[in-house]
Amino acid sequence: MSKQAQFMDVSTYRGALNTSFVHRYTHGEDEWSWDIGMAKAARVFLAALGPVTNQNILDAGVGRARDASEFILAGHRVTGLDIVENSSWPLLRKRWGDRLTLVCSALQDWQPPAGELFDGVLDNGCFHHQHPDEWEAYLSAIRQCTRPGALIGLNVFGVDASNPAPGWREMDNQRQGYFFTEQGVRETFEHFGFTWQDLVVIERQHGEAVYLLALVRT
Ligand SMILES: C[S@@+](CC[C@H](N)C(=O)[O-])C[C@H]1O[C@@H](n2cnc3c(N)ncnc32)[C@H](O)[C@@H]1O
Repeated sequence: MSKQAQFMDVSTYRGALNTSFVHRYTHGEDEWSWDIGMAKAARVFLAALGPVTNQNILDAGVGRARDASEFILAGHRVTGLDIVENSSWPLLRKRWGDRLTLVCSALQDWQPPAGELFDGVLDNGCFHHQHPDEWEAYLSAIRQCTRPGALIGLNVFGVDASNPAPGWREMDNQRQGYFFTEQGVRETFEHFGFTWQDLVVIERQHGEAVYLLALVRT
């Protein structure tokens, strides 16, 4: 991974990431929650799940649970994880009952209930903020909690012609985002043991560059 040297250690970076996301949600600056590109990524993932309902879906970095709510409306069950306990969660728990489980935890620290395996995982904008030394732990956590052949959607930042260099870009409060090329995203997820299925390029409503939705399987 390029430019690892600029990174603080894992534990300090985790603190910075938490501070950054708490700040954005508390101040209503979580523009991604209303980004039509992110909503589109969730719809593409939902369509790729196919017609079978009542699938067990994990939403990694669930945020305000926009995507989780859409999956429940489509007939699925969702577990959502996030490092920030969102103010919308109490009402969402009341609304969706046992169709939605919300847990405040980093994905790479979380132990799923014994025997629970997911049919699909969506990571809509979370992986590309993880410390590079945690990429392996983060992606193995996904592999370990999914059934063989499960569909995994990872929606990450992608470079565009205005700034085609892949690598880390500094965001607010020391939060970093990794911007991939199309080839780089495939190489990365294959390197970590996933089977490649498809790539969908999605326009980003807010901010520079594009989203690259990688669809892979365990
Ligand atoms: C850009 S936001 C996207 C939120 C949501 N998926 C959406 O589309 O609106 C990324 C989310 O991931 C959460 N997050 C960051 N690192 C995480 C981790 N290691 N495990 C779980 N959640 C994490 C953040 O708190 C934030 O809510």
